[in-house]
Amino acid sequence: MADEPLVLGIETSCDETGVGVVRGTTLLADAVASSVDEHARFGGVVPEVASRAHLEAMVPTVQRALDQAGVTAADLDGIAVTAGPGLAGALLVGVSAAKAYAYALGKPLYGVNHLASHICVSQLEHGRLPEPTMALLVSGGHSSLLLTEDITSDVRPLGATIDDAAGEAFDKVARVLGLGFPGGPVVDRMAREGDPEAIRFPRGLTGPRDPEYDFSFSGLKTAVARWVEQKRRAGEDVPVADVAASFQEAVTDVLTRKAVKACRANGVDHLMIGGGVAANSRLRAMAEERCERAGIRLRVPRPGLCTDNGAMVAALGAEMVRRGRDASALDLSADSSLPVTEVSVPDPHGAVHAHAHHSLGGGA
Ligand code: KG4
Ligand code: ZN
Repeated sequence: MADEPLVLGIETSCDETGVGVVRGTTLLADAVASSVDEHARFGGVVPEVASRAHLEAMVPTVQRALDQAGVTAADLDGIAVTAGPGLAGALLVGVSAAKAYAYALGKPLYGVNHLASHICVSQLEHGRLPEPTMALLVSGGHSSLLLTEDITSDVRPLGATIDDAAGEAFDKVARVLGLGFPGGPVVDRMAREGDPEAIRFPRGLTGPRDPEYDFSFSGLKTAVARWVEQKRRAGEDVPVADVAASFQEAVTDVLTRKAVKACRANGVDHLMIGGGVAANSRLRAMAEERCERAGIRLRVPRPGLCTDNGAMVAALGAEMVRRGRDASALDLSADSSLPVTEVSVPDPHGAVHAHAHHSLGGGA
């Protein structure tokens, strides 16, 4: 294990300043400073507020992660950072910090994809990712099915949401029900007291002519809002728990159905679920049930690793070093719409290899 690469990962794509330290597939530290409370009164993340909070939190969070891991910056084999996708200003803070650390310490820099990091984090809990693995990524910003042939170089999008992300739908429905922000955890909690079959909400894009692996949650959100509105207008009480449970059932039904279908159609027998919505208790239970029935092995990281964090970035960075993948240039820029197919941002001027590392193969 001492031979496995030691990597620090920085994540600032949204409202969490995450810094993780990983050795190979072992999590050594996961420090997170969140600005979520500063956004709550706006009902969503305010980019400018997020950027400023990242700037303030960066150095102390890096220090905290190194302390937690019991290593010094000089021990590191590389610095990994989320290069995109995400909020441009927020990403910029992380990328600038990572470049400064890499330059000052003389360590290779790895600009990596946020979505691939969400997949790779599963290694910290369940060991090396089987390849291929199907990944269902569900968060406040994305809902995608990704066929992962090689976590460091080959991630293929099969489908994604055409409107709202799954987490966004949770947040909007929570607002309609007056439950606060972020909506996912509180809807999850309320739903436990409710009947998931009380109301039959629509299952988006599940018709015979619909794209098989794309998602749509905007119609569902509107259906919930309309249903609640009608009750209120009629002067009736809104059965909040039943609405929450029925809405959650509609989301998880579609997500798991399409994920299992994608596995079957592609002959993939491993599914991982990541992103903030993977913390949802009903999604976890339903996925377990349906995967078991389909003979698919399921990996869902614990909730703390599903939401945005630096450890996931470090996990992917460590895998890049281990496999001798090219490092990024020191003039790496953040790309708010980095496509998921770009797992990392290699140096455009030529290969910079993970020279620091001596042991593990992969061609370094
Ligand atoms: O991955 P994440 O932390 O940040 C993004 O990249 O968006 O995901 C945050 C999203 C929010 O929309 C939040 O409401 C949702 O994940 N979420 C949940 C749960 N916990 C967080 N959604 C459903 N059930 C949960 N238990
Ligand atoms: Zn995320």
